[in-house]
Formats: sequence, C-alpha cells, structure tokens
Amino acid sequence: MPSARLQFSEKYDDEHAKRYHRKHNAGLQRRLSNWMEHRIAAQALALAGAPARLLDIPCGAGRFWSLLSTLPNCDLYASDNSQDMLNLAAAVQDQRIVERFNRFQSSAFDINMSNGSVDLIFCMRLLHHLGSQQDRKALLDEFHRVTSNSIIISLWVDGNLKSYRRGLLERQERNKAYQNRFVIRREQIEKEFTASGFDVAATFDLLKFVSMWRVYLLRKA
Ligand SMILES: C[S@@+](CC[C@H](N)C(=O)[O-])C[C@H]1O[C@@H](n2cnc3c(N)ncnc32)[C@H](O)[C@@H]1O
Repeated sequence: MPSARLQFSEKYDDEHAKRYHRKHNAGLQRRLSNWMEHRIAAQALALAGAPARLLDIPCGAGRFWSLLSTLPNCDLYASDNSQDMLNLAAAVQDQRIVERFNRFQSSAFDINMSNGSVDLIFCMRLLHHLGSQQDRKALLDEFHRVTSNSIIISLWVDGNLKSYRRGLLERQERNKAYQNRFVIRREQIEKEFTASGFDVAATFDLLKFVSMWRVYLLRKA
C-alpha cells in the first residue's frame, strides 16, 4: 500500500519535536489538559482489557509511555514517522520506561509489522490532521491489518463549544491555503470506522460539550 504523504508529517524535525514536547509541559492550562487526556486514555485502556502486545503510533515524545508502561505483561512497541521524535522520546522519558518499548521508525500508513501483530493500537493526536476521507481510510485500513483486536484513537469531533467556535474561525479564514487540523462530524467518522471494519465499543470526551477531543475505543467487527 502506498503511504500517504502529508505536508504536516514533514515538520517534525529535531527543533519542532523539542517545541512540541515543551508545549505540553508549559502552563497550567496545558498541564491540566494533558492530565485530562491521560485520564480518558487510562479509562479507554482499562476498558480495552489486557493486551499482550500494544503499539503506540505516533508515539511522538513518548507522552503516554508512563501510562502505557503500567500495563502488566504487555509487550510494548512505539513508532513514529519522525526519527527525531523517537530520539527525543528516548532522551526525555525515564530510562527504565524507555527500555520497555521496542522503538522503530514507520509511517502509520505503512507500518513495518505483519498482519495482526498487536492486540491494541494506541493512536493519539494523528487523525485530526487528516482532512481527506481517503487518507483516513488508508490509515484505518492499515490499523485493521496490524491489530488483531482493538484501537484507541483520538480526534476532534463536532457537537461542542470549541468546534462551534472553530467553525466560525474557519469561515473567516476560508481563503487560507494551508490547514493541518480538522474537526470531523461524529456521524461521519463513525460511518468511516464501520466502513473500515470497526465497531465503536466506547467513547470518552475530554470535557463533554466543551472540548473537541474525543477518544474512541474501536473493536474489529
Ligand atoms: C501531534 S503529535 C502526537 C504525538 C503523540 N501521540 C502525542 O499525543 O503526544 C503528531 C506526531 O505524528 C507524527 N507523524 C506525522 N505523520 C505521521 C505518519 N504518517 N506516520 C506516523 N507518525 C506520523 C509526528 O512525527 C508527530 O510525532
């Protein structure tokens, strides 16, 4: 399968990787939002069951590694398109935690793993970068190939205050040439999940009716 080439994927060089890592640790609001994101991720993981093999993709700077490494008896894999991101993760996370992860560079559209290699794919903050249905289909189909059971995946959805405000802003900036983050209608994305062979097992909202962030737990149909 040809891997989708996305403009936003190219930007995660060493400097951008460091900036991304600093961003999540700066300021009370970001720390709170990071804490809330970890909380819903933990709820989704608890419901997912006890995977024997988990892939964190894209792992970025390993923001979720301390949470994922609490899973007992689980072989952990972590991958990112950017080798600079992987290097940063290995440098900034606790070394005992880093050693728990089998790390490798890979595109999420063309994962260097055989069919059904893991029980659970953990994919935070990638899908909201995909504005085209074709790209989302390519990603979901690749995840369907690599997981034998479930996915935990986050994205921006409609039906809340922040998405309403973003809609107004996007209308004002209609002529902007480059957009790299997108709100997807809940009804639309759920149809796409079904079309790629997944059932929605549960949803977790960061802050219901306010935040755009939603985590889905999907199971292979
Ligand atoms: C917004 S960060 C999210 C990282 C991490 N999941 C988190 O929540 O902190 C996006 C990450 O996606 C990676 N990325 C971009 N395009 C990718 C692709 N095609 N395949 C895999 N990773 C990709 C970037 O290198 C970056 O680390």
